[in-house]
Amino acid sequence: MAPSILVTRRLPARVESLLRDRYSATLRIDDEPLSSAELSRALGSHEIVLCTLGDRFTATMLGASGVRTRLLANFGVGVDHIDVGAAAQAGMAVTNTPGVLTEDTADLAMLLILASARRVGEGLSDLKAGTWYGWRPTYLLGTRVSGKSLGIVGFGRIGRALARRASAGFSMSVRYYSRSGASADVERETGAVRVSSLEELASEVDFLSLHCPATPATRHLIDDRILGLMKPDAFLINTARGDIVDENALIARLRNRSIAGAGLDVFEREPAVPGELLSLPNVVALPHIGSATIESRTAMGMKAVANIAAWIAGDPPPDLVVSPAGR
Ligand code: DGY
Repeated sequence: MAPSILVTRRLPARVESLLRDRYSATLRIDDEPLSSAELSRALGSHEIVLCTLGDRFTATMLGASGVRTRLLANFGVGVDHIDVGAAAQAGMAVTNTPGVLTEDTADLAMLLILASARRVGEGLSDLKAGTWYGWRPTYLLGTRVSGKSLGIVGFGRIGRALARRASAGFSMSVRYYSRSGASADVERETGAVRVSSLEELASEVDFLSLHCPATPATRHLIDDRILGLMKPDAFLINTARGDIVDENALIARLRNRSIAGAGLDVFEREPAVPGELLSLPNVVALPHIGSATIESRTAMGMKAVANIAAWIAGDPPPDLVVSPAGR
């Protein structure tokens, strides 16, 4: 009998059609996240759950008796919402969808660099409020981006794609910090140079952009101490995960202008975003849309389907994050 598949959120139409036609998958009509109780019920009733960001699967839920799920096919790269160790212990495989969202997420990081430096949020607010009274030489003076320095924390696919844009497109000098260095070829091709510590990177650059995964080790990696090392005219950019930054410390540093500004696509307690953060003029904030293009989201869905197809065929899924323990 074909395994039963639950898809926890709405997906681009082409992906939903494929899942419906090929697998008779159970699709949602509304798009609200399922509650913990609903996710637990899903684990008890479906062999495959195509889940995504915000579907929090804890060790308790995954280890409960009666769990039937054997594959958590995550839509997205980050799997920090899944206790992957507990999933493996519970006999599940977990897959993700890397690679296909790289360029769009790097574009959005570049957009946030430009938007925060050039005070785009304040300009839009003035226009919408009707408080703009015309061109004037000293209105909304921002900071030049071209030729400045960019520090990249985490040098995986997205960090490298941002480095290429910044060095080739904006003549920026790019440095990066990551536990494992990139090859000389990658450094040459991206125009990025490795520095030996986060402290060094944070204290030197005009823009500090985060591209590392959210893990227990990177939680609050950017804390008050690191923020305090940044130059007063530097900007923090985060398109990775909110909890890499201590959000309260960031708010305080932005409020007292210890750093110049921030461009944020992710938040520590999504979907909650502190009102104070949003009210600060030196913050450009977006609702986690790094990969939100029809091209990326369709390709992510197709990757999730390919992982499911391989698993059903008994082959190793192409984007395996963990296999069931003991295999
Ligand atoms: C991911 O893939 O983890 C992203 O945050 C979704 O864009």
